[in-house]
Amino acid sequence: MFYETGAGDGHRAAGLAHNPLNALVVPRPIGWISSINADGIANLAPYSYFNLVSSVPPMVMFSANGPHAEGGAKDSVQNIRDTGEFVVNFVTAGLMEAMNLTSAPAPRAVDEFTLAGLDKAPSRLVRPPRVAASPIHLECRLHSIIELPGDPATGQPNHVVFGTVVAVHISDELVEDGRVGSVKARPLGRMGYFDFTEIVNRTELLRPHWPLKP
Ligand SMILES: Cc1cc2nc3c(=O)[nH]c(=O)nc-3n(C[C@H](O)[C@H](O)[C@H](O)COP(=O)(O)O)c2cc1C
Repeated sequence: MFYETGAGDGHRAAGLAHNPLNALVVPRPIGWISSINADGIANLAPYSYFNLVSSVPPMVMFSANGPHAEGGAKDSVQNIRDTGEFVVNFVTAGLMEAMNLTSAPAPRAVDEFTLAGLDKAPSRLVRPPRVAASPIHLECRLHSIIELPGDPATGQPNHVVFGTVVAVHISDELVEDGRVGSVKARPLGRMGYFDFTEIVNRTELLRPHWPLKP
């Protein structure tokens, strides 16, 4: 199968009813982004166009596509632009349903922590609260927001938000012999369509030295 993406719907000519791209780049980590608006109301939403993009200094990104239900940029982008801070909460398997609830296209004034019945924990260096039930959090300060072309049908540009990680919280239960047990955390990954996956195993592979040993 081959198709040219064209306006983003080239897959249809190839006989695919749904855009397969999100099913190709898998699994994607989910950045569950908490922020506050200028009035201090908390906001929480999952973003799977999310990743760690550098480690020294530590930086993350997420990409918001499409408009908010009430028009304009999504709340996370607007809040972070206004306040300069956010937290990345990690989604573990037990938090899947709550995470999904926080993706509802709720009015701007809705606090999705309350909507999903999630307790808040205070952050140490930034104002947005953390999801208390999540075992890992990255406190972040805004670095920059890049505007990308959006879907011409909406006229809304996409926004990629870059943040510097200024503090890290890790549940002590996940730490053993100085290492974090990624499998123990049972992180949730996003796949295509409405599919998710859970990390349940790992394989260790050390990097090669130079010259290569035969
Ligand atoms: C698992 C999951 C991943 C998502 N990833 C993204 C994403 O990467 N970018 C995006 O724009 N929307 C994504 N969404 C949809 C947003 O969460 C949704 O539009 C939400 O209402 C945005 O909230 P906000 O306006 O409070 O920022 C995702 C939804 C789910 C359930």
